[in-house]
Amino acid sequence: MSNYVLALDQGTSSSRAVLFDGECGVVGMAQNAFRQIFPRPGWVEHDPRDIWNSQLSAARQVLDAHGVAASKIAAIGIANQRETSVLWDRATSQPLMNAIVWQDRRTADHCASLCEQGLQELVREKTGLVIDAYFSATKLKWMLDHIPGARQRAARGELAFGTIDSWLVYKLSGAHVTDASNASRTMLFNITTMQWDRRLLELFDIPASVLPEVVSSSGVIAHTLPELLGGAVPIAGLAGDQQAATFGQACHAPGMAKNTIGTGSFMLMNVGGRPAPSRHRLLSTVGWSRGSEVTHLMEGSAFMAGATLQWLREGLGIVDDVAQVERLAGTVGDADGVVLVPAFSGLGAPHWDPYARGAILGLHRGSTKAHIARAALEGIAYQTVDVLLAMEADAGVKLSELRVDGGGAKNDLLMQLMADALGVPVVRPANIETTALGAAQLAGLGVGLWDSPAELAGLWRAQHRFAPSISDDQRAERILRWREAVRRSMAWEKC
Ligand code: G3P
Repeated sequence: MSNYVLALDQGTSSSRAVLFDGECGVVGMAQNAFRQIFPRPGWVEHDPRDIWNSQLSAARQVLDAHGVAASKIAAIGIANQRETSVLWDRATSQPLMNAIVWQDRRTADHCASLCEQGLQELVREKTGLVIDAYFSATKLKWMLDHIPGARQRAARGELAFGTIDSWLVYKLSGAHVTDASNASRTMLFNITTMQWDRRLLELFDIPASVLPEVVSSSGVIAHTLPELLGGAVPIAGLAGDQQAATFGQACHAPGMAKNTIGTGSFMLMNVGGRPAPSRHRLLSTVGWSRGSEVTHLMEGSAFMAGATLQWLREGLGIVDDVAQVERLAGTVGDADGVVLVPAFSGLGAPHWDPYARGAILGLHRGSTKAHIARAALEGIAYQTVDVLLAMEADAGVKLSELRVDGGGAKNDLLMQLMADALGVPVVRPANIETTALGAAQLAGLGVGLWDSPAELAGLWRAQHRFAPSISDDQRAERILRWREAVRRSMAWEKC
């Protein structure tokens, strides 16, 4: 009987493959990091071939390690880093250039000029997004404008564009598709009509010929080419990683929210069957579609979370391993006045400042690497405060708890600092692989392995609850100091 589900979780820093059993238990996992390319300050690229190779080998590794044949896999679900844009040749499946990663700020000036033309309201109304270099539209336009001959070739129908879900499905099966959760991050997709928007395609000068077909997030989409995994396996789940994690955290009812601490930190709340426009500079985005039934979310994204800890290792060299940050930061009781604003790739919600840059303030002669490590964890925690407040104001509800997941959720000190910063209990589930879990669940539902989201919600378990441990006055004081530090980091690139 085929009752395993294989989830491919293609993230910004690594490609993972997680094998689940019929009760949503993790059977095994394989993970491969791949190259991060920083051609210029503010630019971030990935080689799409590295993404594909690291992902395919992770899938093969986990299946080999557990002796699971393709015939035993009921379905594959894919969750992926969103917005990252790939343009490839349909005939050869070769990418025309490196993928432009979601963190890349090269189109910030283009976005600023669109804002100056007063186009924010049009874009917000159609896509639920703010105009920012984060999303795919200006990245794709940049590719079409800068790769010699690309526009002519696109006009002849020779080129395909996709976010990473599309790229992986294309490599796995030859189908050129995406789902609405990923499409809703391109700034080309209308979240009310649930179609590519002709006016936006004109605005960004994008030929419709390059776009993938939008399919359901759950349901059989295509089958893998038999030579890849030793058999044809249905691909039946597709969602952006943050939406997948929201599903995997069983946030199925309006008002339920989660925060994933991966490369960045992404807080999303279920808002029900219709888009809920934000009045506080958050994003309105598609969660997932199951046939014609669509769930919408509200989102606040911060671009650097786990990646800040990576920088402590690779950039600053104060730890050999990211896992050491917690221990180092725990050797001091507080950051002794040091504040670190992780605006390395600009600031996301609710500030949306692509010209902000990272800052460390408050250093004195007694400051040590332990204080910097602690300030980094505090910075990751405090950047979620304004997101949560905006979300509560938009939704008109006070959150009673926040579910957390992602690699950063393993860090107890970070979880405690987050509960302190937010003044809300932070709950870590037994399975923090919720991104992969959500993709697996969408796929399993898509092939009828499970009956309903309610059945899956019944399997969700809390593992630890971190209660706030500081007073409201202490919190208010720390937030004030944090906001001042953020203010000083803003527009730095323009100084
Ligand atoms: O929007 C970008 C996001 O999808 C990246 O997620 O898990 O790679 O940090 P992650």
